[in-house]
Amino acid sequence: MSRPADGDPALRAQLAQLEREGLRRSLRTVEGPVGPRAVVDGRELLLLCTNDYLGLAGDARVRAAAARAAIDHGAGAGSSRLIAGTLRLHRELEDELARFEGTGGAVLFGAGFLANVGVVGALAQRGGIVCSDALNHASIIDGVRLSGAERVVYRHGDWEHLDHELRIRHETARPAPLVVTDGVFSMDGDVAPLPELVEVCRRHGARLVVDEAHATGVLGPGGRGSVAAAGLEGEVDAIVGTLGKALGSSGAYVAAHPDVVAWLVNRARSLIFSTAPGPPAIGAALGALEVLRAEPERTARLRANAALVREELRAAGVRTDVPGIDPGDVDPGVPIVPIVLGAADRAMAVTGELLEAGIYVQAIRPPTVPDGTSRLRLTVSSEHEPDELRDAVRRLATAIDRQAAPA
Ligand SMILES: Cc1ncc(COP(=O)(O)O)c(C=O)c1O
Repeated sequence: MSRPADGDPALRAQLAQLEREGLRRSLRTVEGPVGPRAVVDGRELLLLCTNDYLGLAGDARVRAAAARAAIDHGAGAGSSRLIAGTLRLHRELEDELARFEGTGGAVLFGAGFLANVGVVGALAQRGGIVCSDALNHASIIDGVRLSGAERVVYRHGDWEHLDHELRIRHETARPAPLVVTDGVFSMDGDVAPLPELVEVCRRHGARLVVDEAHATGVLGPGGRGSVAAAGLEGEVDAIVGTLGKALGSSGAYVAAHPDVVAWLVNRARSLIFSTAPGPPAIGAALGALEVLRAEPERTARLRANAALVREELRAAGVRTDVPGIDPGDVDPGVPIVPIVLGAADRAMAVTGELLEAGIYVQAIRPPTVPDGTSRLRLTVSSEHEPDELRDAVRRLATAIDRQAAPA
């Protein structure tokens, strides 16, 4: 019998299989802070793969706010929110976020993953139905699995399919159904049909949760997200937002009516049984919200950069459409730009060539995306220079041509 200290031959064999299939994942080391450029595995690269959409993770004011919070309030919260982990700073940020989202209440979680698992688990009730878009983020999928409710996956963006499923499955004697959707889809960059979803939910007495992870700071007045962009403030039961993407920190929140917030405090297991987010992350998020308010031009610059990259790719003959995604649902200002290449090894070959050229673009492969749709997922920041984006697109188009799909 080998000892654990000798390694795990069974797992090594499975990893080798992933390697052969072009699906093995590994970690690269970035010398912080992240930004439009960074040193990765010892080399300075242009980063076209972070979710730091507004360049706030490395912003001096945001970093100073994190440091101040650590000095004044400590490095960690010390326990979960319901024990002794609710600090004045948490309250301050929750008030700020409730104002930002216009919901009347908000509650913080340790990460977006935890927020989704918590809110779905708390609002989808045993004996009820939970409906989830086919391309929702993994954290929503896991929340749905854990909820114990009857699971319905509706076709991506297809509110008529959702309407049909609710009509045939929901009976008034059951608890209210729950519908969950990404606002901006994380791997495809398209926007959910929110007005139609709101209407379907109202018709069936269903609650609606929208995950704004990739929409906060990107869409809507003041960067308030896809719900605000669609003029639907007050029409959605809960908004999930992350602090770790455009807001440059880490952690997450659910913004909702105080009734819903109180329910989450009582029922969201990932809130109740997890240490509260630490003061530096909370301080950073407060600092980032202040920058977002004071500098709306960052969002405008981000959207212009995203539109520029799409236009340059089009001019270079590189397609950014995705099978099954309606091009009408793509907002050109959204900074997630997918380039579907098909086979996982082709996507890896192109990223390898781009790394050689000093550009870090991430390949996204199954199971994150459906089989046969391995892709490059370019993400743009407000802090990229237009000329470096133009140059990157030129190099990218060359790499894609060189790694052409077999005839
Ligand atoms: C749509 C969506 N929701 C939630 C999350 C999870 O957020 P976090 O990174 O804060 O855990 C992500 C992040 O990858 C995401 O893309």
